[in-house]
Amino acid sequence: MEQETKFIHAGVQPDTATGAIMTPIYQTSTFVQDSIGVHKGYAYARTSNPTRAALEKNLAAIENGSYGACFGSGLAAIDCVLKLLKPGDEVIANDDLYGGTYRLFTSVYAKYGIKFHFVDLAEPKNILKYCNDNTKLIWIETPTNPLLNIVDIKGLSMLVKDLETLLVVDNTFATPYLQRPLDLGADIVMHSATKYLGGHSDVVMGALICKDETLANNIYKIQNSVGAIPGPMDCFLVLRGIKTLHLRMERHCENAKEIAAFLQQHPKVDQVYWPGLESHANHAIAKKQMSDFGGMLSFSLIVNQKEAAENVVKNVKVFALAESLGGVESLIGHPATMTHAAIPKEEREKLGIVDSLIRLSIGIEHVNDLIADLALALES
Ligand SMILES: Cc1ncc(COP(=O)(O)O)c(C=O)c1O
Repeated sequence: MEQETKFIHAGVQPDTATGAIMTPIYQTSTFVQDSIGVHKGYAYARTSNPTRAALEKNLAAIENGSYGACFGSGLAAIDCVLKLLKPGDEVIANDDLYGGTYRLFTSVYAKYGIKFHFVDLAEPKNILKYCNDNTKLIWIETPTNPLLNIVDIKGLSMLVKDLETLLVVDNTFATPYLQRPLDLGADIVMHSATKYLGGHSDVVMGALICKDETLANNIYKIQNSVGAIPGPMDCFLVLRGIKTLHLRMERHCENAKEIAAFLQQHPKVDQVYWPGLESHANHAIAKKQMSDFGGMLSFSLIVNQKEAAENVVKNVKVFALAESLGGVESLIGHPATMTHAAIPKEEREKLGIVDSLIRLSIGIEHVNDLIADLALALES
């Protein structure tokens, strides 16, 4: 099946009891057994639930994987991956990560004896300096949050293919409509399904997808043992969201392209970060591994001050000032004080997350209204 058809049909079947075309929300904690251990495939809803199972199958199919596992949030999914490790193991991650991922690594897992290296992976071979026998996990986000840097997934996977390490890609920003990391050599794809997969800012959820059966069984074991699972209502919402992923992503990308062009010529704007721009440092790799460039965009101001950024974010009317991204409505945020506040100022500025940096999650409204809104806010 083509991606668009999979988004709508993969993993879902009309309900056998009623014929309902939409997967029912099985709001139940347990399932009656015919006799001890004899049941219809479901025993207790932490372990498995039919609504969640349909979503997990759908996710596996749309990422070209074989197994999907859902979690109560994106961070709970990342937490599951880290629980595959043991003290003494080392992790290499790109240095421009979602702040919450960085916080989980450095403030929760570092104290359990796991060592983290944060490396600029714009040039994949930078990784080699940090690889050793203890390297068990390579964590990459591409495009990155908030600077939209791109990591060459295939290039990196070739470099580390002889190491006994897992390559995990956070595919939240690109979604499987624009990029499929498992096809490029990744072992696990991770999602904050809270974002584009859900797509309507009404659910918090995470997911992992992989191809290898042993790896999947280890993930399911942690999922069941820890219990950080989503409820069936949330699974229903994400299943429904995915059905329109392709249509939404197309409009997100079209709008982002026009907004990037508008911002690039604006006299008050300094840098514009969007991988579709030819001026973007990793444009060539983005073009190779993605089918379009996504709806996330960041920009900095000529007056590089927090107050200048604050002035813009408080004067928009169509964009809403809020954390998160990937919904149908446009959001604006200030990474230095919001999503990336967990990263020390010095580190943050070295990466380019300066005080005037503004991040946009471009929605699917009419682009003229979005541009007019930004134009007015920038004038203020
Ligand atoms: C790229 C990325 N990964 C992971 C997460 C964490 O996901 P969640 O908020 O669903 O826990 C986020 C949240 O913003 C994110 O942007």
